[in-house]
Amino acid sequence: MAVTRRQMIIATAGLGAAAAGGVLGRRWFAGAGPGFDHELVAAPQAVELVPGFSTPAWAYGASAPGTELRVRQGDWLRVRFHNRLPVASTVHWHGIRLPLEMDGVPYVSQMPVLPGEYFDYRFRVPDAGSYWYHPHVSSAEQLGRGLVAPLIVEERAPTGFAHERTVCLKNWHVDEQGAFLPFSIAREAARNGTLGRLSSINGVPLGSIDLPAGEITRVRLLNLDNTATYRINLKGDFEARIYAIDGNPVSPRPLTEEYWLGPGMRLCLALRAPAAGQVLALRDGPVRLGSFRAVAGTGAGHAWPPALPPNPLPEPDLANAETLAFNFEWAGKLSVGTAQGKAPSLWQVNGVAWDIDDKTCAERPIARLKQGNSYILELRNLTQYQHPIHLHGMSFKVLRSNKRAIEPYFTDTYLLGRNERAQVALVADNPGTWMFHCHVIDHMETGLMAAIEVS
Ligand code: C2O
Ligand code: CU
Ligand code: CU
Repeated sequence: MAVTRRQMIIATAGLGAAAAGGVLGRRWFAGAGPGFDHELVAAPQAVELVPGFSTPAWAYGASAPGTELRVRQGDWLRVRFHNRLPVASTVHWHGIRLPLEMDGVPYVSQMPVLPGEYFDYRFRVPDAGSYWYHPHVSSAEQLGRGLVAPLIVEERAPTGFAHERTVCLKNWHVDEQGAFLPFSIAREAARNGTLGRLSSINGVPLGSIDLPAGEITRVRLLNLDNTATYRINLKGDFEARIYAIDGNPVSPRPLTEEYWLGPGMRLCLALRAPAAGQVLALRDGPVRLGSFRAVAGTGAGHAWPPALPPNPLPEPDLANAETLAFNFEWAGKLSVGTAQGKAPSLWQVNGVAWDIDDKTCAERPIARLKQGNSYILELRNLTQYQHPIHLHGMSFKVLRSNKRAIEPYFTDTYLLGRNERAQVALVADNPGTWMFHCHVIDHMETGLMAAIEVS
């Protein structure tokens, strides 16, 4: 078999790392130098979601959700992205604090990558945790067709978990024959967003994942869906503790009742599986999404690992922070856009609806932050629907809410409940124009997006 250029590079890299030895070798190889460590191909890929029927998905690699990328905290991620789709695309690295040129936002970070072209993404990954990647172009369709995938950033040192699983949640907009249905319908976009009809875990409806019986596994739950907020709960004989939320460690706490995991959000659990042969149901409220099946144990993973090490996030200076208010509102113009055959304008932030067809929107940032200063962002949901509010480029610390008790934590996405007001804070340490949007994709594409400038 002919050796490809990529195999050559990997082989050489392996030698280099081995020769230089340990951590040093790894650093040497993982520099920003020329080349790439992963080739990521986005292309049409038929998948079988409905037995006996083929669904014309789009995928990163050969599966949808796509290839899991893994990188060590502090290392460089170097990915050559090949666009073999029939449409332009980009890759956005959700939750990663990176330079603007690597953020994957068309006309802001880069030009769209046209069919047949490639783009090299290269950046250092500062924070460990569970992240993901997806396009930022025609997102309802591109994410809807399956262009979503996990990005796992491993802690620098062993964490004490003997086992680990990644669980990607996604609903598919397909009918009984596996054909795609519309990814966004105006009357649904005007409410909770357009829901897919067929849920899946790791791309399999009602899929099953094996866990070693009686032992503790790190389970990374990622909501890669366009619309759904999963009310995560488990049923069966188990013990589960939350170790991280949206990538960032929290002091381990039991998973009690339901955890509401909005689009784009992630939950890292330590899960003790039942005895061999038993099954746990992974559920969305009362609805089963899939199963964990306990299989013969390995003899490792009996103790609860200590809390995960914190990420190197800047602590906002609350005493000197300026407060900025952001109102998320209904724009109420359902008829206007639809009549012209473009995305309707349904939602707005501080009175301005983002227009996905207008490439100049980012030139009119909704807020200008001074680099190095701390800010409190007051998020006000003036609507009857919940919105997972997501910021690119920086993580923020959730401080308080008028609807629930908050133990402050860092995140990149906050699920803002109906009529909720929450305060989050950040240090504006990353210069650039950063998207700030609802991660219900058809809310984002019908107005609920803005740009925040840091300079
Ligand atoms: Cu998952 Cu603009 O982001
Ligand atoms: Cu993002
Ligand atoms: Cu929303």
